Amino acid sequence: MLSDADYFLVETTDQLLDYSAVFGNDNPVYIEIGSGKGEFISQYPLLHPDKNFLGFEVRRKRINNILKKIDPQQHPNVRLIEVLVDEKISLILPAASIDGCYIQHPDPWPKRRHHKRRLFQAEFLKALASILKPGAFVQIATDHEEYAQWIIREFAGCDLFASVQEDPISDEPHLSDHVVTFFEREQRRLGFEPNFMMYKRI
Ligand SMILES: C[S@@+](CC[C@H](N)C(=O)[O-])C[C@H]1O[C@@H](n2cnc3c(N)ncnc32)[C@H](O)[C@@H]1O
Repeated sequence: MLSDADYFLVETTDQLLDYSAVFGNDNPVYIEIGSGKGEFISQYPLLHPDKNFLGFEVRRKRINNILKKIDPQQHPNVRLIEVLVDEKISLILPAASIDGCYIQHPDPWPKRRHHKRRLFQAEFLKALASILKPGAFVQIATDHEEYAQWIIREFAGCDLFASVQEDPISDEPHLSDHVVTFFEREQRRLGFEPNFMMYKRI
């Protein structure tokens, strides 16, 4: 019998992902990078059954946590990929194939010597732009002020994206059906408010 892990986990190969084969339909595909404990990827797709969602998460323990929150009957539009996302995402997903990307509380790597581990780097943004359809959005939240400024600078240096607002940082989520993640809840409890950003692929 197929286990939930077999059902939800998508293996990467040297071929680009075939969404029709993975989801069994041609609905638009959205990605979440760093699904964590799975609040977003277990709750948001329920509100959008006509869209497909691919959650990327590098840590196996977190994937196991997410698997406890989803089941094939309620979440036929969800799949997970266990991988550390970087610029090689363009070797996993086809060009101009993704309608939107959600990145909530990416690891801030606060020490200067660890900044090179940050997800938002010029090469990653170029690769992200290449897999997004024109007009697709990237929604980001971080409570880490210095990382928020870093992210804005990285996007400002990339002419493939534009902020949807003049001030790229908002203290309110752009989505009316925003899902509060574990990390957002914990950080708010400690007094740290999220900075929300929304960019469009030009
Ligand atoms: C600070 S947590 C936030 C989790 C969740 N998004 C939330 O808001 O609660 C960051 C998560 O992203 C995962 N992660 C960090 N960098 C990643 C990457 N490059 N690719 C995939 N997952 C990543 C970590 O393992 C962790 O689960």
